[in-house]
Amino acid sequence: MPRRGALAALLAASGGAAAPPSPWQGLTDGLTAWNAFRFEGGNFTFKVVSMDYSGPDGRPMLLFRYPGPSPDVNISSLGRRTSYRRIIGGGRRVDGERLLDRVTDSFVEDIMAGREPGDPASTSTKGVWRLDALQRGGGVSLQELAKLAGVAHHSAGDKWEPLREGIRAWAKLKWDVNFTFNVGDKDGTLFNFQQGSVGMQGPRLPGASLSKWPAAMTIAGLVADGTMSFDDKASKYLPWWATEPNDVRSGITLRHLLTFQSGYQLDSSPPSNCSDNPAFDYLTCARELYEASNVSLMAPPGTTFTYLSCHLQFAGAMAVAASGLSPDLLFKKYLYQPLGMTNTTWGEAPFKNPQFATGIQTIGADLEKFARGMLTYQFLGKAVLDEAERDWSAPPVSPCGDGWFGHYAMGHWFDCLGYAAGRAGPGGADGASAALPRLCLDEDIPAGPGAFGYYNLIDRRRGYYMQIVLAEDPDCRSEIPEYLRAAAKPLVDLIVRDRYPESSEILRAGGGVTLAEIADIYKYIPPQCDVDPSWPF
Ligand SMILES: *[C@@H]1O[C@H](CO)[C@@H](O)[C@H](O)[C@H]1NC(C)=O
Ligand SMILES: *[C@@H]1O[C@H](CO)[C@@H](O)[C@H](O)[C@H]1NC(C)=O
Ligand SMILES: *[C@@H]1O[C@H](CO)[C@@H](O)[C@H](O)[C@H]1NC(C)=O
Ligand SMILES: *[C@@H]1O[C@H](CO)[C@@H](O)[C@H](O)[C@H]1NC(C)=O
Ligand SMILES: *[C@@H]1O[C@H](CO)[C@@H](O)[C@H](O)[C@H]1NC(C)=O
Ligand SMILES: *[C@@H]1O[C@H](CO)[C@@H](O)[C@H](O)[C@H]1NC(C)=O
Repeated sequence: MPRRGALAALLAASGGAAAPPSPWQGLTDGLTAWNAFRFEGGNFTFKVVSMDYSGPDGRPMLLFRYPGPSPDVNISSLGRRTSYRRIIGGGRRVDGERLLDRVTDSFVEDIMAGREPGDPASTSTKGVWRLDALQRGGGVSLQELAKLAGVAHHSAGDKWEPLREGIRAWAKLKWDVNFTFNVGDKDGTLFNFQQGSVGMQGPRLPGASLSKWPAAMTIAGLVADGTMSFDDKASKYLPWWATEPNDVRSGITLRHLLTFQSGYQLDSSPPSNCSDNPAFDYLTCARELYEASNVSLMAPPGTTFTYLSCHLQFAGAMAVAASGLSPDLLFKKYLYQPLGMTNTTWGEAPFKNPQFATGIQTIGADLEKFARGMLTYQFLGKAVLDEAERDWSAPPVSPCGDGWFGHYAMGHWFDCLGYAAGRAGPGGADGASAALPRLCLDEDIPAGPGAFGYYNLIDRRRGYYMQIVLAEDPDCRSEIPEYLRAAAKPLVDLIVRDRYPESSEILRAGGGVTLAEIADIYKYIPPQCDVDPSWPF
């Protein structure tokens, strides 16, 4: 789930109108991270000077300096555009190219143009979409990262070797520690590469929001077998659900719940002796959740996307009521058995009252079965999956997504990393309400990451699935694997087609980590990380 987006929304709601950090701060953060990872071997200096303005000493005016105190010049207050020069002292070449020079070029260009390139998950029109930055060389590909991190190159390896080297670099830098990278197609596994202690067969991992996609597809199984329809109202199965037309809840359908557009804006807390008790009756507890929430805070169904757990808890209640099966038996009949998943559970024993949206414990091999079943349409079938995987939250729904992962389909993202940066929604609304760029609509990638970093996706056009199997240490690392997914996916696209990957081609397709992302990763690894361990998912 989008920690950054949710955190930003929370801060905005709390009325803390702190000025956004200066765009130069983003450059300082990027260079600090670049230096800390020792990408230049040793220390370097970096300056930006104006060619049109002079400082008090008559020399070209200093606009930015690293390291050391920087003047923090507000570019838009200069009155007219100034030409500038970057001066880099020290540093090294990788394959004849000074990567620091290339990576900072677009970043400084953006600052000088009044944009704010420092926030990877910006939802402002001044933000810079990661793809725009990478297409101008503003980041490093996995192969370049491998060189920067000093990972040995094996020219004799198979076609997956460039990906292995990138993954080794990721682990060597400790960006992630215990994980497996898994790729497969309709016929089986194509690639598995394990770093550290987490493999495809275990240990079993808590998945947090990784639950949402398989939970939604479990419920969709009752549509596939004709028990329910996506257009069924909640009140058709739940006798306590509102039916009076003047109650907004009366119009809520299964489709609204699965697409997170029911209109609920807040997850309420039912009495904790209910939600915390895994043996308690699920429907009774769902009803307590329903009664604990405040109707006057709701939007009309189908108008707004909100990333909450209660949508799936209520959709689960519809499925439990319609089938007469308790949640453990529902998951068994509609998910574990059809796919042959043997190591997955929801909630705690006896599994009668799980959180559908967050309760999964699983292993990579089980979710690989899920991914392959979906890829081949053997699970649920094409009619149901085509319906499930649409860009359901496109405008006029507002917001359309979290601004970072993408828009929303049924229980999973319509993937488009960073889509809100540099865009606005209709009528000048925040970028989170913007339509997806054509590229992402064409790519058509369903993805279902969770707060502990497990990232899974299906590439329907190219016919493969990809997973980063792990559970990050939750009080420190935070959602770093999404950057590995971002950097690796365009590389995998080429490898599965037996093409030899060139860094420049991969960067043009968004396969890299930008300077702003490198700064973000640095912030979230020890010893810098300072994540509130009480943060929910
Ligand atoms: C390199 O930079 C670090 C951090 O700014 C500093 O602590 C260190 O003394 C510098 N080393 C040299 C050789 O200048
Ligand atoms: C920079 O200058 C512009 C134009 O004078 C002003 O609108 C803006 O608020 C300034 N930004 C900051 C962070 O001071
Ligand atoms: C990686 O796994 C090892 C072995 O289970 C464990 O000791 C270590 O704490 C893990 N590291 C992280 C960062 O999760
Ligand atoms: C997975 O399930 C199998 C069969 O039930 C069991 O033998 C194995 O120990 C389980 N593995 C984990 C990691 O739970
Ligand atoms: C939860 O607590 C309330 C109030 O104390 C009580 O009425 C209710 O029966 C309890 N429910 C369960 C499942 O223990
Ligand atoms: C519901 O929300 C409204 C609007 O914020 C508030 O005035 C009201 O007190 C809330 N009701 C309850 C029962 O919390």
